[in-house]
Amino acid sequence: NAPRVVVVGAINVDLVVAATRLPGPGETVVGPRLESHGGGKGANAAVAAARAGAAVRLVGAVGVDDNGRSALDDLRSEGVDVSGVAMLSAHTTGVALIVVDPSGENQIAVAAGANAAVSAGHVRAALADALPAVGCVLVSTEIPGDAVAAAVEAATAAGVPCVLNPAPVIPEVLDLLKLGPILTPNATESADLVRLVADGSPLITGSAGAGGAAAEAARTLAACTGAPVVVTLGGDGALVVRSDHEVDHVPPHPVAVRDTTGAGDTFNGVLTTRLAAGDPLSDAVAVATVAASLSVRAVGARAGMPDAAAVEAARS
Ligand code: RIB
Ligand code: NA
Repeated sequence: NAPRVVVVGAINVDLVVAATRLPGPGETVVGPRLESHGGGKGANAAVAAARAGAAVRLVGAVGVDDNGRSALDDLRSEGVDVSGVAMLSAHTTGVALIVVDPSGENQIAVAAGANAAVSAGHVRAALADALPAVGCVLVSTEIPGDAVAAAVEAATAAGVPCVLNPAPVIPEVLDLLKLGPILTPNATESADLVRLVADGSPLITGSAGAGGAAAEAARTLAACTGAPVVVTLGGDGALVVRSDHEVDHVPPHPVAVRDTTGAGDTFNGVLTTRLAAGDPLSDAVAVATVAASLSVRAVGARAGMPDAAAVEAARS
């Protein structure tokens, strides 16, 4: 019996140009062709979870348009249950404009569309019938703050562990910390969260903390949640701060980087799956770190995302 997870978050179609470099302000860069890929942090994580062996329900929204239909077709073909995805005729499906350079670095601008119309009521209703049987819930923040809050509150009330991926950091996260979600920020987001805790200010620094700073930030955040905090460090692996504030560094799995888009989503989807399967946190993070490393081998958020067998092969 597969571990059961619910993912609450955004669904996009990604329009990708692989160019020789990223454009600066006012600049034009040229790549050979337009690629269209399934995207959105919620949908990507749901696919990562499905490939990792989970039975996944995705909660979110798309528009009633070609992009929405193709997004849902992609998800269904991965075995993701999309019965919790609202189709909103007054909105267009979310679209991300992405440029990726030869080193795998990217620039992304998102037109939120239907993702901005995901309501707290929809999230509550979609979670209500699923929650009793779910092993872990993953929530990310490319949807309105009240919908994020509804998801974390519902999981907590049902006694289901909740992973909260604060990407991006939004002010509503502050009030959710006391509910004890497992936070999974990257280094930049961990610094932004500490600032949010300190001044209640949603001001985004855009500055990544170094390794030591990330560990310190994670300790501060763990003191707020009373739960473990996992900081993803891109090519440097991940840091785990356990509830007792001990810090473990999980090394990356070296691969040739082609596109880092979706690596964080892969990490979160696989982490949630392994936690739902009952793995100890350190084992779940180790598996998720390898899966995220493998995901960057190909252009497209989900191209390169491994299945459970590929992660197992890479680890042995
Ligand atoms: O995390 C990667 C995702 O962020 C992309 O798929 C894009 O849709 C944006 O939402
Ligand atoms: Na990829």
